[in-house]
Amino acid sequence: MCGIYGIVGDKAVEKTLQGIKKLEYRGYDSAGISFFNYEFKLSTDIPKYLKNISCFKNGLNIIREEGDISKLEKIINSLKPKSKLAIGHTRWATHGKPSIANSHPHHSENGDWVVVHNGIIENYIELKQELKGLKFYSETDSEIVAKMLSYNFDGDVLNTIKNVCSRLNGSYALAILYAKNPNKIYVAKSNSPCVVGYSKDIGIVCSDISSIEKIENLYVLPNQTIAEVSAGNINFFDYNLNKIELSKFSGFTIDSSEELGKYSHFMLKEINEIPTAIEKTVVDYNTIEKIRKSLPKKVIKNTKEILIIGCGTAYHAGLMGKRLLEEVCGIKTDVDIASEFRYKNYVPHKNTLAIFVSQSGETADTIKAVKLCKAYGLTTVAITNVKNSSICFEVDYCLYTNAGKEVAVASTKAYNCQVAMFYLMAAYFKAVSIDQDNLIFEEAKQLVDVAKQIKSNKINNICMDIAREIKDSKSLYMIGRTVDYYLSLEASLKLKEISYIHSEAYPAGELKHGTISLIDNDTFVFAFLTQKHLKDKTINNAVEVASRGGKVILFTNQKIENTNFYKIVNLPKLSEFYMPLLLVTYTQLIAYYTSVYLGNNPDKPRSLAKSVTVE
Ligand code: F6R
Repeated sequence: MCGIYGIVGDKAVEKTLQGIKKLEYRGYDSAGISFFNYEFKLSTDIPKYLKNISCFKNGLNIIREEGDISKLEKIINSLKPKSKLAIGHTRWATHGKPSIANSHPHHSENGDWVVVHNGIIENYIELKQELKGLKFYSETDSEIVAKMLSYNFDGDVLNTIKNVCSRLNGSYALAILYAKNPNKIYVAKSNSPCVVGYSKDIGIVCSDISSIEKIENLYVLPNQTIAEVSAGNINFFDYNLNKIELSKFSGFTIDSSEELGKYSHFMLKEINEIPTAIEKTVVDYNTIEKIRKSLPKKVIKNTKEILIIGCGTAYHAGLMGKRLLEEVCGIKTDVDIASEFRYKNYVPHKNTLAIFVSQSGETADTIKAVKLCKAYGLTTVAITNVKNSSICFEVDYCLYTNAGKEVAVASTKAYNCQVAMFYLMAAYFKAVSIDQDNLIFEEAKQLVDVAKQIKSNKINNICMDIAREIKDSKSLYMIGRTVDYYLSLEASLKLKEISYIHSEAYPAGELKHGTISLIDNDTFVFAFLTQKHLKDKTINNAVEVASRGGKVILFTNQKIENTNFYKIVNLPKLSEFYMPLLLVTYTQLIAYYTSVYLGNNPDKPRSLAKSVTVE
């Protein structure tokens, strides 16, 4: 999703370009940079790039390009603009298609104000109507901010920014340039993440705490804050323009796991990292002493019910969590999709623990759901993979998966770690209820063993074969019961998001209530069976499919006599309790290879973003 990077200091354009490249993993469809250079228009061969470049007499310039950042980089490299002030943006289209006109930075009519924006201005249509006589060149909600700044300018930059921001509904992180102050980036934030930093000769703004370059003084902006960023100094103001002090952020970590190494794609690398990621996650919480530091025992003792909330893959991990918490501890657990939960009439129960699952910790709907649960008076816990992400500042307690940075848009290793965390949590609840602290250690040991099994299970060839077989399918179904159904939801999402093959997950017993009419001789159906007590029922359902010509590929750890199936994938010996952690790796690899065989880029599926920061 959209990303912001900006620099005050030497080599601002080059550094800003590097900065927005670090944000690429979030997903985007166009990119742009604005910089201050009074000479630029005179010394360059602009006609070639007429449609990409806007130069204003006041010294502000904008270069924008649709598609990959490398295209923007090519223009910048050929023109080599010099500047000590630049802001850049990667855009993931929400309002208006991907195009140069809709790309950021956006500007006011005379170019005095230039703005990049993350988030959504919900009342932009209404605000547009107030700007009588102004022409709009884009379909975006963001252009309105640049236009409003110019329209409402009262001679005082900060006051104007404050007045404009107080009219905006929705969410925003804004980085703003004002042509007459070519040494400063102004930043305003409300409900979209933003960090700023400085050291002696540099000032930086970035939308993503894990992508900002290492800097001496780093600050996470709270909501309704304006920052005036210069090289060597930052001033902070609240929305009454009172100067405020913010505490320096000290938990700075640089993630160095962004190299592809021997792998052709990040997704393949990340699937191969699953065993290590599980081990690293588990080791941080493998004793009662460690886990209770992050989530005190008294919270566990007080909990009568659990509510788990997430989106997409994180929601699917939550379903696994439900199974574990109910099966191991007998605690009633509900699971909901964040964007649904927010608009439901939720009846809060006293002593409900709300657990939020989010790899990025930035998903707008999940964060809004946290706020809602806090308003209901619930205790809140996040399971997230990104230290100091926005969700960590919202919840009461945070548990970190230690999967390492996930660059591929489709989540893989983070999902396995989220599920591993639920195994540990279930053990924690059990340990507290029967007063046996060592259960955590036992569970952690089991999980490390499972990680070892995943590592030694060589499945590339099987998965490649299946990918080759299914790659030309128009549509595909995945079935299973209870935990196998939860697994099929994740398997189906992974396949469709990167292969673009339509796929649906169904509870195995539900198929004959309608959907089975879609099964014909060409339809592949993945049937998942990992639980002994479900054997007869799931097999019956798979046979029903096969009898209608469906090509059933059965993934199972059970002994199966029926040979009517198209293929049986025999899963290795492993306690059925842990089987989902292992089985999901097959489905992740099948999705990966299918995407590759179809000529897609599995790391950057069309239309998707790594962190979904709009609702
Ligand atoms: C799918 C995928 C998404 C995310 C979802 C939530 O592969 O990655 O479905 O799981 O967008 O994102 P987080 O976990 O960052 O809140």
